[in-house]
Amino acid sequence: MPNKPSVNQIGSSRRSFIRTGILGAASAWISKDILFAGTNRVVPPLSSLDQDWKQIRSQFILKKGMTYMNNASLGMPPLPVVKAVQNGYESISNEPLHGKHDLQAIIKDKVIPGLADTFGADSDEIVLTRNASEALHIQALSFNLKRGDEVIITTQEHPAGLKPWMLRKKKEGVRVKQVFIPSPLTDQSDVLNRIESALTRRTKAISFCHVTRGGHLYPVKALAAMAKEKGLFTLVDGAQAIGQFPLNLHELGCDAYAVSLHKWVLAPAGTGFLYIRKGARDRFRSPFETNPTTDAPGFDPPGTKDFPLRAAIGAALDFMNQIGWENVETRCRYLSDYLKDGLKQIDGVTLLSGGNDTISAPGSTIFEKEGLDALEAVPIFEDKIKTHIDEHQRDGHNAIRVSTHIYNNTAEIDRLLNIL
Ligand SMILES: Cc1ncc(COP(=O)(O)O)c(C=O)c1O
Repeated sequence: MPNKPSVNQIGSSRRSFIRTGILGAASAWISKDILFAGTNRVVPPLSSLDQDWKQIRSQFILKKGMTYMNNASLGMPPLPVVKAVQNGYESISNEPLHGKHDLQAIIKDKVIPGLADTFGADSDEIVLTRNASEALHIQALSFNLKRGDEVIITTQEHPAGLKPWMLRKKKEGVRVKQVFIPSPLTDQSDVLNRIESALTRRTKAISFCHVTRGGHLYPVKALAAMAKEKGLFTLVDGAQAIGQFPLNLHELGCDAYAVSLHKWVLAPAGTGFLYIRKGARDRFRSPFETNPTTDAPGFDPPGTKDFPLRAAIGAALDFMNQIGWENVETRCRYLSDYLKDGLKQIDGVTLLSGGNDTISAPGSTIFEKEGLDALEAVPIFEDKIKTHIDEHQRDGHNAIRVSTHIYNNTAEIDRLLNIL
């Protein structure tokens, strides 16, 4: 099996700890009132080695003997998040009216400002949604376009990044051009060149994933800068990106960004958000409001919300902020590098994740193995080594996707490599 690289991150742990001071204070309030009944505080890890992640791993309640390596489909929330959801439901069951008001206050005063603070946005640029698909639909359906205007997307979009545009094409005559992007990516400039050379005088926006379902990492900052220079808008699908590495939406420079919080951020299933940059707001029109204004743009889907889930986003943020996002990224890279090194030594395996960190996200690794059908292989891994992975039969591949997060370890990866 490959050598385990040693990464000393004491400096970055300390930085992350200091950086999270504001949110720490916010979650102390949450914890006192409702969310953190009796859970342990997380100690930031000193390195990426398994031994320094034991305390964090102990916060996950996966069935003994099981291994979960399918985080790109659905994240596995740690115990504080599970308890926060439970506490939230208890509060609306014990005293529905006050429980609801308390949870609404947590969401408004703590969760949304916490998300804004953590991910480099302003609170009024964030609207909570149930998932990335809902956010992607609002994002695409709200963007002002007239018949004949064009939007550039890629061949690697998730259906939720494709369908709302197809709807607009059918109903409104908007032109949708899909640019072919090869898998694996060759380099950042290839992605940039392919998208840039597809632009025409009709193009009004570009829309693509920050990280694709296969774990390919797009150069969002460069794409947004290129689009801005040409007076175009950049609408991003961040479902697979948020939570794998530090993310600052203002610095990224895009106009809209849609996310799931139930994947890499480890928040409860059924949580996400849509970011619309304040300066770009006038270009979007609410699909819900008859009279939206700049101050009340009306992007929030109407109706009763899943308050306990949304309030529990605070517990996930607190958990991850205590660890520190640089530490999360380095740990994820450590595990996927370990996996990739092992895969390279197995006959008949073709690694399909890009060759370096600028084009490959930290958490998801895809590969094919000669003679192995990915769809058939998934239940075999569960049966033989009690390990959950996923298939990736898209982008022309018959691939297996292994998505590892901070809670995995090298022994689990060794088991997977051995059976391969
Ligand atoms: C790239 C990408 N976009 C969007 C989605 C949809 O996310 P959600 O299930 O949160 O709607 C996914 C889900 O796997 C995804 O991988």
